[in-house]
Amino acid sequence: MAVRSATINVMTRAADKAARRLKRDFGEVENLQVSRKGPADFVSSADLRAEQTLREELGRARPEYDFLMEESGHTAARQPASGGVPRRWIVDPLDGTTNFLHGLPHFAISIALEERGEIIAGVVYDPIKEEMFWAEKGAGAYLNDRRLRASGRDTLAAAVVGTGAPYKGHGDAPKFLAELNAVIGATAGMRRWGSASLDLAYVAAGRFDAFWERHLSLWDTAAGIVLVREAGGYVSEVDGKSLRPDSPSILAANATLHPAIMALLRGA
Ligand code: IPD
Ligand code: CA
Ligand code: CA
Repeated sequence: MAVRSATINVMTRAADKAARRLKRDFGEVENLQVSRKGPADFVSSADLRAEQTLREELGRARPEYDFLMEESGHTAARQPASGGVPRRWIVDPLDGTTNFLHGLPHFAISIALEERGEIIAGVVYDPIKEEMFWAEKGAGAYLNDRRLRASGRDTLAAAVVGTGAPYKGHGDAPKFLAELNAVIGATAGMRRWGSASLDLAYVAAGRFDAFWERHLSLWDTAAGIVLVREAGGYVSEVDGKSLRPDSPSILAANATLHPAIMALLRGA
């Protein structure tokens, strides 16, 4: 049985609470799909509502931690840091907004805890599938109460690889297409599911053997990074450099396939 620390309990409780409203809002989006106005405005308010709930819940439990949130940016703690140790919550209240907006049931709440610049805990919650992915540095990665391990596949030919594609006005499409071409020629298949935090959680769960994406932000990846590491996977920038908080790209994979996928992407 997985034992959840006080930190993980705070994070999963906050995710659960924000998820209840998000699920109701998702049901509403399905109704709005057929209306003439469409669901776009409503979705951005669903985002903000989820963020507000997470701020209240996390802030109440740990008033001395800062926040970095996708919608509202940096907010200082309500109390000074205890023992002078700087900690902050890194939050994406709705990762997979385009899916949400289109009634596609694949999105997540992503919460990470950073201490002295290092991610030490992460929660990625998919409220539709009721899958709570969580990990804490040194304590392992879990899906609900089941321990997670990155996949054991050791050949590219057997690998299923997730990615995130550029979209209108974002990213470098020609570069992406060259990389895609290299990867589809060598692997069992590609997936583009539209939620980077879940893509990383799926690498931790051994569902994806690898995932890469360029042009992500820290709130997309922070929780997923600790999940992959604690599941025995390997995470770097696409070209192999160590990850920093402002790294523009990410490549996560099981430890065996990471160098081979990196070589494919670099050669593209
Ligand atoms: C997006 C998702 C998507 C990725 C985009 C992100 P959002 O986050 O993670 O999979 O391809 O780059 O911006 O906007 O839905 O929170
Ligand atoms: Ca996101
Ligand atoms: Ca978001």
